[in-house]
Amino acid sequence: MQTVITDVSYDRTLLLMRSEYEKLSENGCFFAIVRTEYDQKGNVLHDLMDVVSSAVEIGYVYVNTIVYPTALPQRAAFTDNVKYVVWLCKNRSAMKFNKDAIREKHIWKNVEWGKRAKNYNPKGKDPGNVWIPTKDDGMAHITEHIMLGDEGVIQRLLDMSGCGDDCTVIREERELRQLERRLPKERLSAEKLEQSKVIFGSSEDMSGVPDESVRLAVTSPPYWNLKDYFKKGQIGQEDYWVYLERMKAVWAQCYRKLTLDGSLWININIRIHGGRVITIPHDIIKMCREIGYYYKGILIWHKSSGIPTGEKNIVDRHEYVLVFSKSEEFFADPQAMESCCDYKSDRMNGGALWNINRKAGSVGKQYIHPAIYPNELVARIVRAATAPGDTVLDPFLGSGTSLIAAEQCGRRCIGFEYNEGFRELMELRFSQEIPDANVEISGLK
Ligand SMILES: C[S@@+](CC[C@H](N)C(=O)[O-])C[C@H]1O[C@@H](n2cnc3c(N)ncnc32)[C@H](O)[C@@H]1O
Repeated sequence: MQTVITDVSYDRTLLLMRSEYEKLSENGCFFAIVRTEYDQKGNVLHDLMDVVSSAVEIGYVYVNTIVYPTALPQRAAFTDNVKYVVWLCKNRSAMKFNKDAIREKHIWKNVEWGKRAKNYNPKGKDPGNVWIPTKDDGMAHITEHIMLGDEGVIQRLLDMSGCGDDCTVIREERELRQLERRLPKERLSAEKLEQSKVIFGSSEDMSGVPDESVRLAVTSPPYWNLKDYFKKGQIGQEDYWVYLERMKAVWAQCYRKLTLDGSLWININIRIHGGRVITIPHDIIKMCREIGYYYKGILIWHKSSGIPTGEKNIVDRHEYVLVFSKSEEFFADPQAMESCCDYKSDRMNGGALWNINRKAGSVGKQYIHPAIYPNELVARIVRAATAPGDTVLDPFLGSGTSLIAAEQCGRRCIGFEYNEGFRELMELRFSQEIPDANVEISGLK
């Protein structure tokens, strides 16, 4: 068998991944279409991270995860309108992949390539891993986002795998969770901060922050073995298991600092390192559950700029935001999330897909920090998970984005950053982006 496509419940996906493995040819692909499954209280039972890690255990090679919107959302902690295709194969070099069959239309060659016009490919641009085709006005403006639907997605998978008739498609209806929407309950009281604070030091020790004083922790942690933030002792440069232990200490600290109705939002991705898949999100979910958090779901940050992943793959255009809460119900304003309108299609807005383009990018502004996330991503989370005057915590502050976004939304922030070398950059950003804020900086050696 050359191609297997499944669109079934989690349990059946696992059974099929096992039973089809031996039958799959060396050049074949297995595409598992996955939805997050929730319990009656809106906690995640299983999601794509479980599928990816089980697939790797069985022996599959993980290639990528494709994301697409669905017209049949589920309602859990927030409206979940995302489906995932976990793309697996047996042998990466033998795997058949017809990239030309799924290339995307250039919106406008001069806009897309700028000075790198030689990179323009007349067959179309490299396909990404968020499948939302667009219509445009011929002048680089998108006029419509199109929902492919399951049929459209399955057709594209068949096209790109070039399997002819040698394929099996297995589908079944799923039960979708529709929880009653609860309006934000009254907030538990928490101390109000006079001013935002930057603390230079490791967030493994947050003893200076009162327990249960923070409504929201939001962050993008350092990846393992990817970027060097230029200071010895930083998290991310040690053995993987030590890295996980250190990260767990940070999430445990956040747990103590959160109010009972507080939540933790972590921006992270799956990584492939030396040909091996590193399922950091799966490991984070596991460790956060061990600490006592409830796992509430995944938001997708859809980026228009993509990270190339090599010839036999598609371009990475999304990152995950994992959402955890300290109690089963947490302070959240569903309306703040539902009012997000990134797509020119009503059916795609108001869910768990956010199309935000990097604005404060390290590349765009030549900032020295290599991994800055956009203010808007954090601002949306802040508006959804806190009320004015609340305190936000970022254990890995980097160039100061979370603090800036919190201040811009009328909240305060406490941010930890290990490397004092980023102080100048933070101060520059604070003076430009929140000139009226008075930020206390401490912990400098
Ligand atoms: C992905 S970056 C965060 C970028 C940030 N979101 C922004 O927009 O600028 C991760 C940051 O964690 C910092 N870091 C590494 N180990 C740390 C530790 N033990 N405590 C606090 N910060 C640490 C790194 O120096 C780096 O700036």
